[in-house]
Amino acid sequence: MLKIAVCVSGGGTNLQAIIDGIENQTITNTEIEVVISNNKNAYALERAKQHGIKSICISPKDYASREEFNEDFLKQLNSYHVDLVVLAGFLVVIPEQMIKEYTNRIINIHPSLIPSFCGTGYYGLKVHEGVLSRGVKVTGATVHFVDEGTDTGPIILQKAVAVEETDTPEVLQRRVMEQAEWIIMPKAIDLIANGKVTVTDGKVHIG
Ligand code: GRF
Repeated sequence: MLKIAVCVSGGGTNLQAIIDGIENQTITNTEIEVVISNNKNAYALERAKQHGIKSICISPKDYASREEFNEDFLKQLNSYHVDLVVLAGFLVVIPEQMIKEYTNRIINIHPSLIPSFCGTGYYGLKVHEGVLSRGVKVTGATVHFVDEGTDTGPIILQKAVAVEETDTPEVLQRRVMEQAEWIIMPKAIDLIANGKVTVTDGKVHIG
């Protein structure tokens, strides 16, 4: 059984897709041990509560220094003994020590086809604003392992989504969520839970 921690900061629609996937068995062999948020008002916490999933709130704002936050965040995560950490719209920089201890055991969903429209400054609606201002015809989403860079870890799954001429950033964001994020995030977790994902020389092999 793959035990996972899901880290959230906002609405939690990706968390909901994971919860639904476990409940309808499109995600097998997996249980959500804990939901972690830096934002006590995140609706994602309400989603966890509705499904009886344990949640904790931990924010850098509540610590005298970033180092103290990083240390306590890692200590609290380790206390749950999870196999995989899932970043689902988590807006806190992952501590270097956590990346070291959880090599190829932290995954993230990014709302573009990496390496386009990613890296520092590209998050939330800013990604889709970049897509529309560049005029690309296809965008999508990427699930990748987290390494010490920003959106630079080995790519696990990607799914393309058409950009429409009338799109606004909000309309495009929703389409990318519905047609890509909520499909590939659960799929990636199911593949990992069933031992189908390996990483060799920074490249992901599935099967
Ligand atoms: C998603 O668009 C995801 O791609 C990005 O943050 C957003 C999270 O949305 N990383 P939600 O909280 O899962 O609804």
